Amino acid sequence: MDYDIADISLADDGEQRIAWAARRMPVLASLRARYEQSRPFEGVRFGACMHVTTETANLMRTLRAGGGEVTLCASNPLSTQDDAAAALVADGIPVFAVRREDTETYYRHLQAVLDTRPDITMDDGADLVTLLHTERTELTPLGSMEETTTGVIRLRAMEAEGALRFPVVAVNDSDTKHLFDNRHGTGQSALDGVLRSTNMLIAGRTVVVVGFGDCGQGVADRSDGLGAKVVVVEVDPVRALSAAMEGYQVMTALEAASVGDLFVTVTGNIHVLREEHFEVMKDGAILANAGHFDVEIDLDTLSKLAVSRKQIRPALEEFAMDDGRRLFVLAEGRLVNLAAAEGHPADVMDMSFANQALAAEWILDNKAKLESKVYRLPADLDQEVAALKLAALGGGLELLTPEQESYMVSWRQGT
Ligand code: NAI
Repeated sequence: MDYDIADISLADDGEQRIAWAARRMPVLASLRARYEQSRPFEGVRFGACMHVTTETANLMRTLRAGGGEVTLCASNPLSTQDDAAAALVADGIPVFAVRREDTETYYRHLQAVLDTRPDITMDDGADLVTLLHTERTELTPLGSMEETTTGVIRLRAMEAEGALRFPVVAVNDSDTKHLFDNRHGTGQSALDGVLRSTNMLIAGRTVVVVGFGDCGQGVADRSDGLGAKVVVVEVDPVRALSAAMEGYQVMTALEAASVGDLFVTVTGNIHVLREEHFEVMKDGAILANAGHFDVEIDLDTLSKLAVSRKQIRPALEEFAMDDGRRLFVLAEGRLVNLAAAEGHPADVMDMSFANQALAAEWILDNKAKLESKVYRLPADLDQEVAALKLAALGGGLELLTPEQESYMVSWRQGT
């Protein structure tokens, strides 16, 4: 078996942490139990490019429990948990991922996954799909799954241009994914990354959240819960208004730049914090990014403006400005929750990855009629995932009485 990981001797540590994550992934466990019986993925080759974490390890094992043959590489060079990678390899699942791998190795690993000629690919940021539309057009999978907002935006653009070569399921768009993973997962884990790299007290500080989508809302809510004064920067008037009605201050980026103690970017956009903002930031301001790519903070310009740079703590770098101010950047401007902490908690990845597994089943069940489009999973699968998760949390779900059901039917029909 071919693989490329940092250190196989980390397998036992990885195994323990994978088991800990599994305890908090009951929905995925119920799918796994079903797949062990029905084996829906018998002989199906999966190529996955995802954050190599303990939660992803549980997804890989779930697919394998259904008969799938899985190969995994990283979707970000800084997010790989080397012990999780080692445990998977020790368990017979090929992994190509080394934490902090350079760009050349990163792309070599993507190619290694595609060399397995996958029937179904899984992306977190559309990297495999991009290669399948450029260098590897000799391969045409039955379908692909996309985990994140940024990837889905690219895929929808490809669909609109008529360029998409095969069907893709936008797993991100399932309600039981983005309403929970993006919001609660990113909200909590982005702050976890900030806390681990700085050990700062959030209470009483001004936290500027740039982008008030699902992720930004989560970061704002959690910062608020920790006692921060929250400022939101948005370009969409509806979302900006919604932030204002949540009680947050809404400002332009330039206004916010001079008041923020901590900045968290979550827009999926480029250079949302740039020179004009760096020029007015307070001494000691801390800058973090939780959006998919490391382009949201213009680090090239910040490096040029700085007279010196110094690594202060793991994932915490100081940029000294010529006027004596010091700005601090977390995790090189990469996803702070994955690069400086452990990514989303297993409890929330449970639902995201249940959607991934159900999407794979859905592609196989519908392969004859799927076109080269971006699909959303049917709503009944969302309902299934939500009901299973609610039951696992011990929540009771009210059911309509027969009288209520017929009342609703006749109301809808106008009878
Ligand atoms: P979204 O599309 O719901 O929200 C993004 C928001 O940013 C939008 O409201 C948009 O109007 C706003 N925005 C765009 N440009 C802006 C600018 N220049 N200034 C201020 N606001 C701006 O997207 P979502 O789901 O919240 O995801 C955001 C990013 O986070 C994406 O790149 C996504 O892939 C990534 N993501 C990261 C995760 C993590 O683990 N850190 C998890 C899930 C998503």
